[in-house]
Amino acid sequence: MKDIDIVKYLAEKKALVDEALKNYFANTNSLFEIMHYSIDRGKRIRPILAIMSFDANGGEDMNIILPVACGLELIHTYSLIHDDLPSMDNDDFRRGKASAHKKFGEAMAILSGDGLFAYAFELFTQGNGLIQEKYSVIKSVSEAVGPKGIVFGQSLDINNEIDATPKSLRRIHVNKTAKFIAVSIKCGAIMARAPEHIIDKSYNAGLYMGILFQYTDDILDIIGEKKKLGKTPGKDVAFGKLTAPAIYGLEGAKFRAERYAELAKTGFSALGERFRILNQITDFILNRTF
Ligand code: IPE
Ligand code: IPE
Ligand code: MG
Ligand code: MG
Ligand code: MG
Repeated sequence: MKDIDIVKYLAEKKALVDEALKNYFANTNSLFEIMHYSIDRGKRIRPILAIMSFDANGGEDMNIILPVACGLELIHTYSLIHDDLPSMDNDDFRRGKASAHKKFGEAMAILSGDGLFAYAFELFTQGNGLIQEKYSVIKSVSEAVGPKGIVFGQSLDINNEIDATPKSLRRIHVNKTAKFIAVSIKCGAIMARAPEHIIDKSYNAGLYMGILFQYTDDILDIIGEKKKLGKTPGKDVAFGKLTAPAIYGLEGAKFRAERYAELAKTGFSALGERFRILNQITDFILNRTF
């Protein structure tokens, strides 16, 4: 099997996700309009990973995976809205425009995040998938994004008392970012009714991809351009955040990002030729500039 054009693939899948998302925000109420403001734009990496993994595991009916993929993007967007709040990272610029609290005020930003978080789980119950698989998605995602995952990671991230050690860094990266990336891949496998050992192995390779993702996010905070990123670089150093470059230096962080990419690709390669696309997106994440 030959490599596909990953940039084209990402654009096509992003269009598919954006189209599906549009339907979930049509004919609703004014809170949905505010939620949709923050949903608009973004790379859609997590929903695309779910679709890729669904494909790689032989899934065919898009109506099975799209509600799950969209739900993942809703949770991700909620996490960004709350991450940007003045009491968290205090970021006024997100996805190339004013962040939610700048645009609508802090109370509405918090509520729109709450709304997105809950609405995601409504989406997980929808579509053509079977109840057993939907149950597994809800169980796995809630574990990855709640107090054993993102919310815990974020609580460590904002705690300035934390030791600046490699172990603390890894705990932050795994919880705030990697578990969610990994579970996005896992959801694709679950909805395609893949065997248990494939689901587990793709999750484990996804954890490496997720750590890689946060490494490149930390690196781009130093070397990225505001216009490309759609968010303000330089904030991590200004806030004294515990990041990969803070522990290992910029070159050390780049070197280790490459190692995490290798670990992820070794994991996906073991799953067979159909998973080659996950190796390609791993390289895309390693080399990303936004
Ligand atoms: C940013 O995520 C937050 C992290 C977990 C590092 P993305 O880089 O995927 O942001 P969008 O969705 O493209 O805006
Ligand atoms: C955010 O990490 C992780 C989330 C769970 C939202 P960052 O704080 O580094 O993300 P950015 O750089 O603001 O996108
Ligand atoms: Mg943060
Ligand atoms: Mg932030
Ligand atoms: Mg960051």
